[in-house]
Amino acid sequence: MVKIGDVAIEKTAALAPMASVADRAYRTICKEYGASYVVGEMVSVKGLCFSPNKALELITVTEKERPMAVQLFGSEPEYFEKALPKVLKFNPDIIDINMGCPVPKVTKSNSGCMLMKNPKLAEQIVKIVVKNSSVPVTVKIRKGWDDDSVNAVEFAKRMQSCGISALTIHGRTKADMYNNKADWNIISKVKQSLEIPVIANGDVVSPETAKDMYEVTGADLIMIGRGSYGRPWLFKQISDYLKTGRYEQEPTVAERMEVMKKHVLLICEDNGEQVGMKKARAHIIRYLYGIRDAAKYREKCSRLTCYLELLKLIDEILKNYI
Ligand SMILES: Cc1cc2nc3c(=O)[nH]c(=O)nc-3n(C[C@H](O)[C@H](O)[C@H](O)COP(=O)(O)O)c2cc1C
Repeated sequence: MVKIGDVAIEKTAALAPMASVADRAYRTICKEYGASYVVGEMVSVKGLCFSPNKALELITVTEKERPMAVQLFGSEPEYFEKALPKVLKFNPDIIDINMGCPVPKVTKSNSGCMLMKNPKLAEQIVKIVVKNSSVPVTVKIRKGWDDDSVNAVEFAKRMQSCGISALTIHGRTKADMYNNKADWNIISKVKQSLEIPVIANGDVVSPETAKDMYEVTGADLIMIGRGSYGRPWLFKQISDYLKTGRYEQEPTVAERMEVMKKHVLLICEDNGEQVGMKKARAHIIRYLYGIRDAAKYREKCSRLTCYLELLKLIDEILKNYI
């Protein structure tokens, strides 16, 4: 177990925050298949103050998702302070502050990874959130802005001294975006420099890479984003492998289709069938990765409009395996 403040989390694998991907349905299915902790999609503190309905939808926490963090982004300490009571009403287990987002729309407004270039502002934000939060506060960072300004160790120490309860680090710079390999050595250096728990993130895609990441970084927990696309059972495989050295190989195509159906139903529950099926298409395509004639089915997926059509498509896929 790792403890973030008073929140105990199994030391297996957590689900990373992923805007527009890891929504409530995604988090719920990953939790069901073994994720030990999940983080919500980033939500703007300014958005929470000015257009609450859309933003509030992003901070709801259901019992099945716990322990769960709500992730906030922004650049003005006063908006963090104003938004906090609204967030706390939903009883998140943890509040995470995004200091790693590389998307220009976010960094242009001095939020996300831009805060790593402005540690004083980052400190002001963290201090105000820690002071006003009744739950543990964490920060998620990258390695630095670019290769000429790698400041993760020094920045992480400053965040720790502002009272955060844990820190997540993605081993890439802002300039890397999602290219190049994540640098696990910098994560190891951050781990060695902090007393609070460190969560390691970047490029875990299998039980073996999960174990390697624990060994290389010495991290207290690891976090997975893209590696879980279309395969939420990865979390259980990792948990089994860490505990016993063994894990069940990939599920059969029929088993995969069952998990996919569950996932799509959760999406439709949250969004209604019409909008839900549109949102589900990208996820469905990921569940079909590597199956026989995948290209043909992918094309059909992009036209799915209702759940019944999905069931027919699954029948067709399974017949292909008889
Ligand atoms: C589609 C997408 C959306 C993301 N959204 C967020 C986000 O809202 N907040 C955040 O801190 N990181 C976000 N990330 C970064 C991931 O949390 C993670 O740090 C990154 O994908 C590296 O981990 P991985 O190699 O396991 O995917 C996002 C990544 C992707 C691919």
